[in-house]
Amino acid sequence: MSTATLIALDQILFVLVAGLWAAAGGFALTAARRPGDAGAARRTSLVAAALCAAAIVVTGLRVLVTVGLARAGWWFVAEKVTLALPLVAIPGLTAGVVSLPRLLRGVPSPAVAFPPLVAAYGAVAGVVCGVIVSYPVTVPAAVAVLTLFTGASAITWRVLRHGRAVDRWHVAGTTVLLIAVVWAVTASWSGGHLHEGHGGSAAGTPVNRLLGPRGENARRFTLTARAATVRLPSGQTLDAWSFNGRVPGPVLRVRQGDLVEVTLRNELPDQGVTIHWHGYDVPSGEDGVPGVTQDAVRPGGTHVYRFRAEDAGTYWYHSHQNSSVAVSRGLFGLLVVDPAVRSPGAPAVPAPGDHTVALHTFGQLTMSLDGAAPTDRLATSAVPPGTPVRLRVVNTDTLPRTVGLAGVPFTVAAVDGGDVPGATELTGRRLHLAAGGRYDLAFTMPEGPVLLSADGHPGLLLTGTGTGAATAAPPVPASGPLLDIATYGSRTPLPGHADRHITWVLDRTLALVDGVPKLGYTVNGKAWPHIPTPVVRQGETVRITVVNRSGSTHPMHPHGHHVQVVSRNGVPAGGLRMDTFDVEPGEVWEVVLVADNPGLWMSHCHDLAHAAQGMEFHLAYENVTTPYDVGGPAGNHPA
Ligand code: C2O
Ligand code: CU
Repeated sequence: MSTATLIALDQILFVLVAGLWAAAGGFALTAARRPGDAGAARRTSLVAAALCAAAIVVTGLRVLVTVGLARAGWWFVAEKVTLALPLVAIPGLTAGVVSLPRLLRGVPSPAVAFPPLVAAYGAVAGVVCGVIVSYPVTVPAAVAVLTLFTGASAITWRVLRHGRAVDRWHVAGTTVLLIAVVWAVTASWSGGHLHEGHGGSAAGTPVNRLLGPRGENARRFTLTARAATVRLPSGQTLDAWSFNGRVPGPVLRVRQGDLVEVTLRNELPDQGVTIHWHGYDVPSGEDGVPGVTQDAVRPGGTHVYRFRAEDAGTYWYHSHQNSSVAVSRGLFGLLVVDPAVRSPGAPAVPAPGDHTVALHTFGQLTMSLDGAAPTDRLATSAVPPGTPVRLRVVNTDTLPRTVGLAGVPFTVAAVDGGDVPGATELTGRRLHLAAGGRYDLAFTMPEGPVLLSADGHPGLLLTGTGTGAATAAPPVPASGPLLDIATYGSRTPLPGHADRHITWVLDRTLALVDGVPKLGYTVNGKAWPHIPTPVVRQGETVRITVVNRSGSTHPMHPHGHHVQVVSRNGVPAGGLRMDTFDVEPGEVWEVVLVADNPGLWMSHCHDLAHAAQGMEFHLAYENVTTPYDVGGPAGNHPA
């Protein structure tokens, strides 16, 4: 059974166990209170015994599921082993030894009902535990769970002994218990960091001094954020936010080695804007994160970004202010850096077969070819047979997409901008593309047509221009098995050692999100801005273990760096470089990051709604500070 299945099963058993123990206790109590009617009391007692036995069996199942989960890693079971299971298993065992024989003999008493009731409280405490405790288990959270359990058990004991529930001492005791629980829970949320949410250093180089170079011969672009309307061929229209009136924004195409200078103007009426260069490892001060590397550009304002285009490949840019809204509404575009050195005789940029494909949801899944208006219909393009084709597929959505290419064998020539060494040829395979991720698909145009599909829907049809090309039947969307990208290509050497080890345990837990307690998306049990900031030193090799305890996929995206994938679920990976990697429910990824780009960086889930509900945090370098604040007068709101 997969870890994700075990997690789901555990959640079902949780509730079942609580229900069975509560029912067993309830029937035992009813039987004890029917001394007048011996026959009825005996029958009820037997029902209680049966429920008790069932509860013991299901509790045993929970123990087995936990053992199974423990094999995937301690992160998945820490709170179960230390809290949730003992609270139900110990009273459950007592019920089996003390209560069950008496219930079977039909000699119930209120005291006999006590162990099953306590087991029920333990099971409920376990359910509470699943909501408020993640990994690691914290003392305040444990105190909250134990207080609830002990309080309920003590009150029950008193009631069973004395037969009455309410007196002044009870009221006082219950009040104290509740205060203790509330205190413990809120204490487990609080952060206590320097400079809300930033962590890291109190003194050192301010991040806004870590800037790109200025120069005369820069490639200059202006991106103006303004309102626009998206009209899809199907007739649907949507109010969008655009760069330069275009959705997606213009494809910025530069040559490796170029100095890039982008002036951002904001003409949106009441929405701040920034530009983040997704996957491009720019100097930290150019990273475009409001409240961290700059203030959001207010309506009417401007901001200039500068960086040297050191790496070739396919990247994208998007606003990072209220990004969960801004990106989905259209404030994004593609960035393509052509390699500085091309093979002799290579055509000018962009080569005829070189296309960008942005996948984005505007009401429905759309595709934008080479920065043109998005379409929800099949797009076509004629490519002469024999042309080397490179399709730069970018997922600008918040959900993963399944990409397929039919009609030709192809390679995944690049992942997240970087070339894949030893990329082998694939036929009919489908690819899982993380939200924010990019694949460059390369092939030589055949005589017949080639079909690019997303989630099984035809997207782009490349037609040959040879004789009969127009009449050839278009291929059906690829339906072959999914490629495991982590093991694709030849092995890339990994750094031999790690100077530091960081763990990100992703979960869905009750946490303080925007000051309000709710079920948020948490990292190590906390939500932004309370997630402790890992601090690294320049030059260090950092090993990051990413564990997904939740039921949803999290495309993790560390800014300013690429990571190399070491392993996935314990299976060694090929060392592929990625900047956005999908950690699916129950998965454990080991990646390494070389701390070679000093700054104060954001790391977050690129399901931007998850980021907005807590799943964003920092990676800080020693001695880097920021003068900016999240919130504040500038209204900085990165997610
Ligand atoms: Cu595209 Cu902070 O990310
Ligand atoms: Cu997520």
